[in-house]
Amino acid sequence: TIAVRQRLREAKRWARAAAVLRDLQERCAAPAARLQQVSAAMEVEMRAGLASEDGSKLKMLVTYVDSLPSGDEKGLFYALDLGGTNFRVLRVQLGGKERRIIKQESVGVSIPQHLMSRSSHELFDFIAAALAKFVASEGEDCHVPEGTERELGFTFSFPVKQTSISSGTLIKWTKSFSIDEMVGKDIVFELNEAIKRQGLVMKVLTLVNDTVGTLAAGRYVDGDTMVAIVLGTGTNAAYVEHAHAIPKWHAPMIKSGDMVINMEWGNFKSTHLPLTEYDQALDAESLNPGEQIYEKLTSGMYMGEIVRRILLRMAQEAALFGDNIPPKLETPYILKTFHMLIMHHDTSPDLKTVGVKLNEILEIESSSKKTRKLVVDVCEVVARRGARLAAAGIHGILKKLGRITDRPDKRRTVIAVDGGVYKYYTFFGQCMESTLREMLGEEVASSVVIKPVDDGSGIGAALLAASCSQHLQLI
Ligand code: GLC
Repeated sequence: TIAVRQRLREAKRWARAAAVLRDLQERCAAPAARLQQVSAAMEVEMRAGLASEDGSKLKMLVTYVDSLPSGDEKGLFYALDLGGTNFRVLRVQLGGKERRIIKQESVGVSIPQHLMSRSSHELFDFIAAALAKFVASEGEDCHVPEGTERELGFTFSFPVKQTSISSGTLIKWTKSFSIDEMVGKDIVFELNEAIKRQGLVMKVLTLVNDTVGTLAAGRYVDGDTMVAIVLGTGTNAAYVEHAHAIPKWHAPMIKSGDMVINMEWGNFKSTHLPLTEYDQALDAESLNPGEQIYEKLTSGMYMGEIVRRILLRMAQEAALFGDNIPPKLETPYILKTFHMLIMHHDTSPDLKTVGVKLNEILEIESSSKKTRKLVVDVCEVVARRGARLAAAGIHGILKKLGRITDRPDKRRTVIAVDGGVYKYYTFFGQCMESTLREMLGEEVASSVVIKPVDDGSGIGAALLAASCSQHLQLI
């Protein structure tokens, strides 16, 4: 009878776990009709954000980038890419139309957690020191004649109110940064001061968001690139807008007639978003409650954490990992999206990798195959929801651009995509693309191309610095 009772208990646990999963699947569902509503809401918010400064949750920031790389860019340029969990320093040798990128070198440095919330001085000193080290170690071929400044493009991937192509103030922090005293300050001024403190002779020519860098890098390889999406630690989009379609911007006529807009779409919010109690709790306990809601559903900083919260609930309600709740499972942000994707992609018949990861990260020593399968199912629900919502966002941009209905010329539209979630989370990328195709319909989908741009944010900043430098030489 003990055995019978045990089996009964076991069956009850599974029924409860299955109920939590079913409930989750229902609440996270993003069927086609709902996605069309999300896309429509995105388009409405885009227009509102373009109309006035505080017209929308979408900031729709004017970037002062009115022309994108042509391929003619030449010379030696540097780029600094700050925005995720690590930053990178790059050096790019550009050879013009024929030779393109002749040489490219870079180093990545991970940012110690404490520097993300302390003082701007400490953060920028750390960055400038890495830059100085990079320059000091370069060879003869990078020699810059005495008295000339090295030229730098700075990718700073947070919402910035730009005052020119090379200056702007921080609107707010997102992701895991929270240095309060920096809000409202000029980013380039801070960087320049830190560069001077290092004794470096270097000039910041451009200040760009990573989406803008990705757009520039995308255009460099494909002239039909109109949109860029970053799906990484955070998520965001930039696109090419007609200058006359930006009512809030009272600026001189631009020759090209175009202006790149940094949407800051991570802050999008709509009643149509399928939010669960897990998302609400994550948001309430985050560094920026009430903000970046769309980002909290679709990006790398948060998806793993949502999975952790769901697994914790299953452990509490259905003893998923045995009678005791694994203490590690109670640690916020311990489960990274990178761990989630490794488990999700496990194709071995007995889900061995899932078991290994559960052990490594959450110290869950043994798990049944059934439990491991449930973990994979949870990952799948969270990733599918994120990917489908990202597709709906892209659909909204294409609608705003008139690339869905008014297409007499059936122009190609290329969307450049970068970021770790897109690059490494194959399921996510594939689901996003198939959802977009499904939303667009066969015919339109055939003229829309999603193009991965590796390292777009850094190279794009160097390319934009190059166009700027050439422009300056002309005047
Ligand atoms: C966050 C930032 C945004 C950036 C995105 C991707 O949403 O606010 O500026 O582009 O992350 O890095």
